[in-house]
Amino acid sequence: MCFSQVVKSLFLLVLLGGTLTQVGCFSFKYPAFKNENGSQLIMINSSIQLDAIQVTPDASGASIANYSGRAFYKEPFRLWSKSKGLTANFNTTFVLNISPRTPPGGEGLSFILAADATLPQNSEGQWLGIVNASTNGSSQANVMAVEFDTRKSYQEDIDDNHVGLDVNSIYSIKQVSLTNLGINLSSESDITATVQYDGKNMTVYVASKLVFSLPFNLSHYLLEEVFVGFSASTSNGTELNCIRSWEFYGSDIDDGDDDLEFLWLWITVSAAVLVLSGIVFYLYWQRKQVLYADDPYPGLEDQIKGSSMAPQKFKLKELRKATANFNHKNKLGKGGFGTVYKGLLANKEVAIKRNSKNSSQGKQEFIAEVTTIGSLHHKNLVRLIGWCYERRELFLVYEFMPNGSLDKFIFDDEKLGMEEPTLTWEKRHIIIHGVAEALDYLHNGCEKTVLHRDIKASNIMLDSEFNARLGDFGLARTIQQRGKTHHSTIEIAGTPGYMAPETFLISRATVETDVYSFGVLVLEVLCGRKPGNQIEENDYNSSIVYWLWELHKKGRILDAVDLRLNKEFDEEGMSCMLVLALACCHPNPHQRPSMKTVLQVLTREVPPPLVPMERPAFVWPAMPPSFKEDSGNSLSKSQLSPFTELSGR
Ligand SMILES: *[C@@H]1O[C@H](CO)[C@@H](O)[C@H](O)[C@H]1NC(C)=O
Ligand SMILES: *[C@@H]1O[C@H](CO)[C@@H](O)[C@H](O)[C@H]1NC(C)=O
Ligand SMILES: *[C@@H]1O[C@H](CO)[C@@H](O)[C@H](O)[C@H]1NC(C)=O
Ligand SMILES: *[C@@H]1O[C@H](CO)[C@@H](O)[C@H](O)[C@H]1NC(C)=O
Ligand SMILES: *[C@@H]1O[C@H](CO)[C@@H](O)[C@H](O)[C@H]1NC(C)=O
Ligand SMILES: *[C@@H]1O[C@H](CO)[C@@H](O)[C@H](O)[C@H]1NC(C)=O
Ligand SMILES: *[C@@H]1O[C@H](CO)[C@@H](O)[C@H](O)[C@H]1NC(C)=O
Ligand SMILES: *[C@@H]1O[C@H](CO)[C@@H](O)[C@H](O)[C@H]1NC(C)=O
Ligand SMILES: *[C@@H]1O[C@H](CO)[C@@H](O)[C@H](O)[C@H]1NC(C)=O
Ligand SMILES: *[C@@H]1O[C@H](CO)[C@@H](O)[C@H](O)[C@H]1NC(C)=O
Repeated sequence: MCFSQVVKSLFLLVLLGGTLTQVGCFSFKYPAFKNENGSQLIMINSSIQLDAIQVTPDASGASIANYSGRAFYKEPFRLWSKSKGLTANFNTTFVLNISPRTPPGGEGLSFILAADATLPQNSEGQWLGIVNASTNGSSQANVMAVEFDTRKSYQEDIDDNHVGLDVNSIYSIKQVSLTNLGINLSSESDITATVQYDGKNMTVYVASKLVFSLPFNLSHYLLEEVFVGFSASTSNGTELNCIRSWEFYGSDIDDGDDDLEFLWLWITVSAAVLVLSGIVFYLYWQRKQVLYADDPYPGLEDQIKGSSMAPQKFKLKELRKATANFNHKNKLGKGGFGTVYKGLLANKEVAIKRNSKNSSQGKQEFIAEVTTIGSLHHKNLVRLIGWCYERRELFLVYEFMPNGSLDKFIFDDEKLGMEEPTLTWEKRHIIIHGVAEALDYLHNGCEKTVLHRDIKASNIMLDSEFNARLGDFGLARTIQQRGKTHHSTIEIAGTPGYMAPETFLISRATVETDVYSFGVLVLEVLCGRKPGNQIEENDYNSSIVYWLWELHKKGRILDAVDLRLNKEFDEEGMSCMLVLALACCHPNPHQRPSMKTVLQVLTREVPPPLVPMERPAFVWPAMPPSFKEDSGNSLSKSQLSPFTELSGR
């Protein structure tokens, strides 16, 4: 467990604890009312028509005189909590439209908060659907309303065009005429009204004009839970009262039994304390383990230092500094081996590979990479500058390749963007030649034959001049354990699509399997196509190789060439190279040319090897070569016999 995980756990705990007192949200928004919205509303003597709630609907033909109705949002809203001493706040905006049917119209519409979602009997006329004669003035009514009154129906009503604040009665504790504000409720036009309650003041705006704002404590009058909605009524004077749109935002003070909540709080806090002490103890214990545990790679340092070929050893501190503490901004890539970071060491750009904890690269591979590959110097190999082994982590420092890997240039037009042109035929030729040189050097140029075992476009790096640099030695692969007989292909190192058919039978890499991968790479570079069928990667028959054999059979091998080259290439050189690639991908490993021959063909010293018109069947064991054109054309070193592999491979 690392520090960030501890922080995450702590954060989670805080969140968990937080939910107990968290203020949520009770909100909804109806830009218009559709019939489907009816199920979310409680409607009594009201209905949805013409995209609006008709609180007193025009019941076709029937008189709407002496009528009252209500419409509520289905879920109740928790207004306050006595036990917690909390009061919710809310704001709501709605568009109302009142169309008088008689001159004058009547009676009015109101926004109400009511404990009871039913409609009081006989609440028509002056009662506005808020109360009736028996509940008026009674604290049992449990209702609060902001009335939009269109009729002066009793003495205290100031006029027939006002807004009032009513509590448990139709008697308004505050009323303001809209006439002075230039607003006419009965004008049949849409009027926007906003009611806000911040826990202290009740504020009403109509048509964006402040009507009133007064200190008001809802919890003095209403029950903890209320339904929010509208009511309206008619009398002898009738009108259509509709709500065209409605939005409501209310804070949601959590429900729940107090004692239970304290219990939960107590449990959460104790759990947090327990988990925290656990984490602290674990970290302490782990640190001790780190300090005193056995070295996971014992003797690694000595083995590397014993080799005279080993490159520079770096301190973790230096690498940290070079990569700004392995900042993710410096990340160049990620693979099975771990992560690669860009860094600046002694003012030189470098690529630093940091082995992940569960990396497939073991100690032996690391040592092999550092001591053997570290000693290899070739202009077409990515150079290993140094290494580091500290705090149970392995690091490799390479020279930095500004143009990244080849695959992004040959496959992905997207990433290429407009600035980077497709690689020209000349560039592709130079790249292939470079890889061939590197591979020839590995196979024939060093003391021991070195097998790369994972030649593919993503392992070819490009320097600033687009020269190919073979990289990724031993990192992207699993180690092939000798003496074990595996039938599982999972253990076989390499990348599907690049692996020779016999790989699965002999379960190990050879010089010939490297040549095969090289052939696939050449085809990719020339055709701009991925090696396998994208759909079935392991389907040998649908691979690029099989495709090329088919075109070759039809004598149309040049059809395979990447269209992005716009036919700008030397046809003879191109077909020569394609045939060479096919020869490298010969199903019979004995028939594949050596890298020496490949180089000679590339420099046009010798013609490409002859390949049959039709793809030969894959036969195993492979027929030994029946004849040899010349000694240079055959494999001099390994011939599938035990070959020198790097230690640990
Ligand atoms: C109301 O109904 C319409 C139509 O079905 C739907 O698109 C909209 O989301 C509903 N509104 C709400 C707030 O549920
Ligand atoms: C309105 O609703 C009340 C109560 O639900 C009911 O008694 C009354 O008959 C209804 N009025 C009309 C006109 O439908
Ligand atoms: C409405 O009610 C009032 C008083 O209750 C009554 O006088 C009047 O006749 C009623 N009007 C209609 C149209 O029913
Ligand atoms: C309405 O309330 C919501 C949530 O409480 C808030 O985000 C919003 O700003 C408020 N709007 C106004 C106009 O006060
Ligand atoms: C007022 O409404 C209540 C509840 O609907 C009802 O019980 C009561 O009888 C009504 N009073 C009158 C006078 O209609
Ligand atoms: C309604 O109740 C209020 C008291 O809250 C009272 O002042 C008013 O006169 C009553 N109105 C009617 C019409 O009974
Ligand atoms: C409001 O508008 C209606 C319809 O246009 C009109 O009859 C009425 O006189 C107006 N009332 C006021 C107070 O302006
Ligand atoms: C409202 O009244 C309640 C008691 O009913 C009280 O606890 C609360 O502090 C009051 N709120 C304000 C803003 O005065
Ligand atoms: C509440 O309204 C009063 C009167 O309008 C005003 O003086 C006061 O500042 C308001 N308080 C808040 C918190 O809005
Ligand atoms: C309603 O109209 C009827 C006649 O249509 C009349 O008798 C009654 O007094 C009126 N009531 C009110 C409250 O205006």
